[in-house]
Amino acid sequence: MRIVILPDAADVACFAAQELAGIVRGKPDAVLGLATGSTPLGTYRHLIEVHQAEKLSFRRVQTFNLDEYLGLSSNHPASYRHFMNEHLFRFLDIPLEQTFVPRGDTSDVEGECQAYERRIVEAGGIDCQLLGIGSDGHIGFNEPGSSLASRTRVKTLAERTRLDNARFFASLDEVPTAAITMGIGTILEARQVLLLATGQGKAEAIREAVEGPLSSSLPASALQLHPSATIVVDEGAACRLQRADYYRLAEQQRRRLRKEA
Ligand code: F6R
Repeated sequence: MRIVILPDAADVACFAAQELAGIVRGKPDAVLGLATGSTPLGTYRHLIEVHQAEKLSFRRVQTFNLDEYLGLSSNHPASYRHFMNEHLFRFLDIPLEQTFVPRGDTSDVEGECQAYERRIVEAGGIDCQLLGIGSDGHIGFNEPGSSLASRTRVKTLAERTRLDNARFFASLDEVPTAAITMGIGTILEARQVLLLATGQGKAEAIREAVEGPLSSSLPASALQLHPSATIVVDEGAACRLQRADYYRLAEQQRRRLRKEA
């Protein structure tokens, strides 16, 4: 795993946006895996700036979001489809029919999950999957205990996740109790993964994901199995890492080698 420690959340957002923009520059029909929540908001803002400043086109890009709350329709203000339209898609030139988010209000949940997996395969697989991390170590909505081989399916949300996400709803009672989420196995098939974390509230989850044992009890630790995983954290989220000095050294060397090349 590549661990990038940056001063603050703004630097994390800038780094991630440049990574995603670089992928689209190199492959205009790239398939991007996207996330919602507070963490990627800055990344999306930067990406929109790059799109506007450089005229970087997303016309041929396809996107697949990690998850959607079960039972919420796409126009519910707290749905992840609504979030993506509001915070990213409406500012880009990407046709909305090339943006995929699981349908939370489907009457055929099993069929929706299988169709989602099929669409990812038909798109040629995900080039880069953007991830946040829950304070309990979840990625997507793969809560602790999720199979490391899991595919897109319904997961019951942990109470801690419902509490963490209650800020997006009028009350805790309104937070759905389940979601459709890509599985850990689905996420691991992306050619590249980029996990972002900011703030001390994520420090323990990041320490366990990066330096703890590989375990379904800490779903993000599954990224230790991925051949091209980059973990981008600010100083707050990095504050519990035991080998932070080594990661900084490795990044310095990486930059030096790139300059020399
Ligand atoms: C969102 C998602 C979740 C979030 C995680 C962190 O699509 O899949 O795993 O990335 O809950 O959320 P924030 O960024 O709000 O702390």
